[in-house]
Amino acid sequence: MSPFDVSRTLPENATGAALRADVLHGLTATPKTLPPKWFYDARGSELFERITELPEYYPTRAEREILRTRGGEIAAAAGARTLVELGSGSSEKTRHLLDALTGVEVYLPVDVSESALTGAGRALVAERPGLRVHALIADFTASLTLPGTPGPRLVAFLGGTVGNLLPAERAVFLASVRALLSPGDALLLGTDLVKDEGVLVRAYDDTAGVTAAFNKNVLLVVNRELGADFDPDAFDHVALWDAEREWIEMRLRSRTAQTVKLPALDLAVDFAAGEELRTEVSAKFREDGVRGELAAAGLDLAHWWTDREGRFALSLSVAR
Ligand code: SAH
Ligand code: AVI
Repeated sequence: MSPFDVSRTLPENATGAALRADVLHGLTATPKTLPPKWFYDARGSELFERITELPEYYPTRAEREILRTRGGEIAAAAGARTLVELGSGSSEKTRHLLDALTGVEVYLPVDVSESALTGAGRALVAERPGLRVHALIADFTASLTLPGTPGPRLVAFLGGTVGNLLPAERAVFLASVRALLSPGDALLLGTDLVKDEGVLVRAYDDTAGVTAAFNKNVLLVVNRELGADFDPDAFDHVALWDAEREWIEMRLRSRTAQTVKLPALDLAVDFAAGEELRTEVSAKFREDGVRGELAAAGLDLAHWWTDREGRFALSLSVAR
């Protein structure tokens, strides 16, 4: 068997159908919204990688610090032979985890971005003879079934991507992850933490404009896939902190009154001048909140590690 293979859980046209449904629902709602998973075509995945290198975007560096310094403890607690990673992207930080998890035979990255998965998978098998990589093109919010691989399994969900789900979506998602775990398996979850508003807003509104380009990329995805005529220059990037809900919200604000046509949906959408389209929430967490959300899904938090500056946390939890 080849050390690297890719499979999809859904037929290719299912992605198109899901995009159409999300766009129709989101652009006819008040206020208008689009789910963040549609940022990640090949360009969006590349823009995200550039975000991780920005001086203002601290989460990647903070989480990498934890993975480097706590890798041994994570390995001892998990004892995994299979590493499953949800929303794995470039798998860049995963290398630190794989260095520590010396008993891992199979790496199973799961992502909607085919380009990120194939790039990461090919590089990893070239770097690590003996590691089998089975990449899965799948939506981790849809019912996920994993191929049979040796246990114990560690399911990693890094980067704080869990914060891109709304609270109700998170509850469903965590319960579905719990259902994937057998006795002895564990979940390693990355969560960005509540902190100073200025630090947070700058992380989502960088001076080089990379996050703005990432945000507007969703319009280009809709243009390409649904034949729409969004003009990205007719929208401004907005990042704001919602102190009550403790999340960052990214929006696109229409500069003028305009009508956007979406022929594939037989739809025309009016934007008023200044009207905002919400494209992402990025929730920030506290330890008690994470413990409570995990417990509600049937998971017991066993370890909580933060970076030295207390900006980001990794937790390890096990099925109750
Ligand atoms: N884990 C990496 C990448 C985070 S970016 C890191 O920590 O740096 C978020 C990743 O999740 C992207 O690669 C994106 O394609 C993927 N993603 C977002 N929503 C998804 C979904 N619903 N199902 C599967 N993958 C998703
Ligand atoms: C992938 N996810 C955790 C990122 C975040 O920080 O919420 C996506 C992102 N959006 C803007 N910058 C980065």
